[in-house]
Amino acid sequence: MSRKAVAREEEKNYTKRKVKAFQEKIFQWWEINRRMLPWRTTTDPYQIMVSEVMLQQTQVSRVIIKFEEFIKAFPTLQSLADAKKSDLLRVWSGLGYNRRALWLQEAAQEIVKKGSFPSEIEELEALKGIGPYTARAILIFAFNKDLATVDTNIRRILISEGFATEETPESNLFLLAEKLLPKGRSRDWHNALMDYGARVLSAAKTKIRPLTRQTTYNKSQRYFRGQILKYLVEHSKATIQQLQEKTALPEKDLHMLMEKLAKDGLIIKRKNHYALPD
Ligand code: ADE
Repeated sequence: MSRKAVAREEEKNYTKRKVKAFQEKIFQWWEINRRMLPWRTTTDPYQIMVSEVMLQQTQVSRVIIKFEEFIKAFPTLQSLADAKKSDLLRVWSGLGYNRRALWLQEAAQEIVKKGSFPSEIEELEALKGIGPYTARAILIFAFNKDLATVDTNIRRILISEGFATEETPESNLFLLAEKLLPKGRSRDWHNALMDYGARVLSAAKTKIRPLTRQTTYNKSQRYFRGQILKYLVEHSKATIQQLQEKTALPEKDLHMLMEKLAKDGLIIKRKNHYALPD
């Protein structure tokens, strides 16, 4: 072997060794520090899909209770596909980003129509509300598929451990994460990384900024959308005056919000009031 070839081999070994050491470090920590989370007691792809959609943009602590309530109300794909939208939104209420509930139901209807749960990334990504992260997460947690996925927790780990930088584009993060994956243990590996990212390398400790940040405008829109939907869940219907009292929004802004909610399919405009969809 030439000296250059030896050097290349050494570099490969070094990388391999580094990866192995990293995997061992994470798994050793996880053995005694793993979190008990309700979606980790199942590998039912339907339940995993529900948990992953809920966990998009919502804190683990808030998802725990809702997940259990949701699975009790809609235990199977078929029961979610057949659910009344008003019942669905009632159970979802409080989680925020309520369109996710309707998309989840559409996804369930598509899968029921197809006859079997998707086993490929592309099939899952074709469903409403399921992006590259979630499609992979479902296949990993349900089927232990040899895939890698990167959420904000995992991204922080990659950066903190020197495998990526804050400037690394998202598509590259997925490729880098694949190099670190211990084959055959993808489910445990991702659970371990998520726990390590949440407990050891938290955003507060690392000061690493997330890739996406919500604008103040979006936050306040989301707040009022939540308030309106909560009112409808509790009262079944509402006049514009009642909603004005509840939100204290100027009439023009309120009308604009109501139009958007109706367009998203989250509310129905009747003659003299608004209601949840049937
Ligand atoms: N965030 C997204 N998916 C998660 C999971 N399965 N466990 C913990 N946090 C998550």
